[in-house]
Amino acid sequence: MERTLAILKPDCIKKNLIAKVLDKIIEADFKIVSIKMIKLSKESARGFYEVHKERSFYNDLVEYMSSGFCVPIVLEKENAVADFRKLIGATDPTKAEEGTIRKLYAKDMQENIVHGSDSVENAIIEINHFFSRNELLG
Ligand code: CMP
Repeated sequence: MERTLAILKPDCIKKNLIAKVLDKIIEADFKIVSIKMIKLSKESARGFYEVHKERSFYNDLVEYMSSGFCVPIVLEKENAVADFRKLIGATDPTKAEEGTIRKLYAKDMQENIVHGSDSVENAIIEINHFFSRNELLG
C-alpha cells in the first residue's frame, strides 16, 4: 500500500466543495488514513512550497495558501501517488482531462482546489509536514 498527501485548498473550502471532492476521492477507492482542517501560517506555507521558492508565483502561492482554511488528508491505496494525480488532473484546469476534480471545480492555476504529492518520496515529506506520528496510526 502507498500513501499520498492531498490538500483541499482554501478555494475548495470557500466554495463549500469539501463533501463533493471527498466523495470523488472515496469513489476512486482511496482510504482516508488521517484528515484535519487547519489554517496554515505563512511560515508553514513557505516551508511546504519551498521547492517553488525561485518561481514567480511563489509569494502569491504562499499568500493564497495561508489565506483561509485547508484540509490536508493522508490517503492510502495501491499506486496512490500516481492514481491521485490522475484523479485531480493537470495543474492548469484548462488542460485537465474531463471528469477530473480540477476540470470540474478549479478556477485557474492558483485556485485549483486540490494538491497532490508528485512522488512517493515527496509524499512522505509532505505527510510529515502536516501530521505527527500519533495522527497516522491505525
Ligand atoms: P500544487 O499541486 O499545490 O503545487 C504547486 C502549486 O503552485 C500548484 O498546485 C499551483 O497552485 C501553483 N502553481 C503552479 N504553477 C503556477 C503558475 N504558473 N501560476 C500560479 N500558480 C501556479
